[in-house]
Amino acid sequence: MPPYAFFQKQFMPLAEAKIGILTHALHYGTACFEGIRGNWNAEQGQLYLFRMKEHYERMRQGCRLLKIDLPYSIEELCSITTELVEKSGYREDVYIRPLAYKSSQAVGVRLHDLEDDFFIIVTTLPAYLDTDNGVRCCTSSWRRVDDTMIPPRGKITGIYVNSALAKTEANELGFDEAILLNQDGHVSEGSGENIFIVSGNTLVTPPSSDNILLGITRDTVIQLARNELGIETVERSIDRSELYLADEAFFTGTAAHVSPILEIDHRPIGNGKVGKVTKKLQQLYFDVIRGKNPKYFHWCTPVYTKVVEKKLS
Ligand SMILES: Cc1ncc(COP(=O)(O)O)c(C=O)c1O
Repeated sequence: MPPYAFFQKQFMPLAEAKIGILTHALHYGTACFEGIRGNWNAEQGQLYLFRMKEHYERMRQGCRLLKIDLPYSIEELCSITTELVEKSGYREDVYIRPLAYKSSQAVGVRLHDLEDDFFIIVTTLPAYLDTDNGVRCCTSSWRRVDDTMIPPRGKITGIYVNSALAKTEANELGFDEAILLNQDGHVSEGSGENIFIVSGNTLVTPPSSDNILLGITRDTVIQLARNELGIETVERSIDRSELYLADEAFFTGTAAHVSPILEIDHRPIGNGKVGKVTKKLQQLYFDVIRGKNPKYFHWCTPVYTKVVEKKLS
């Protein structure tokens, strides 16, 4: 089956979905996007879209920041997305990328007096970081953008230049990922992930005021830690040196899942191996996203039930 896109209000083969070279968002980073995972459950022959509603709620907020008019309700966005994935017929993990953007063919930096458009594409995405063996990180020489510059609470395309600078610097220095500090020198997040440390019997993660993207995986892990392991999460600023002294550390993100951090700036975290709490959270999380834990099934949208329902009606 050819990959499909939802573009200009209709489903079409991805190869036919094209934009003009004068598109405003291409020149000025004036777009807002999401990354949603579809997780394949081989035993059930089912693909589950994880917390899709929350992703679209966050996208709607980002669109408000950029004065982009999103012409669909959250329910409509969820239903279009499910149909797109179903049409594409994937039987493996997928990554869905909705993107709302300033579509005018116009030169001139601004947010007002421009047209908006929206598309969704679906693709496969191999493991982003090594969830089994963990990752080695450096503290980036780049600082995380501040809310006074570009609001990091929105998944705004222009912001990702900041992430790309940090990621490439880290990779070129031989690390897997970068950890960005904010303007005050507090830990903010990875280039595309939130960060947690385990200190004694608590989880600690930076608050929204430290310029993080409020991650949906972050929220998932906070809830799983509390409900399933009895571990509370404290949201507070973290100093760089606290990272070095943490018992465990890990990243969370739709692309990165729960990825153990084994080393920061060449210093081993804890005993330098995947931590016990990290491992437990990771196992819980993987079961939940694949629709294997009935308690959290409300977070999972099955793609292929729709096919069955359609055939029956
Ligand atoms: C900068 C940044 N921080 C954190 C995250 C994690 O957010 P989520 O768990 O919603 O994917 C992402 C990924 O979307 C990101 O790009």
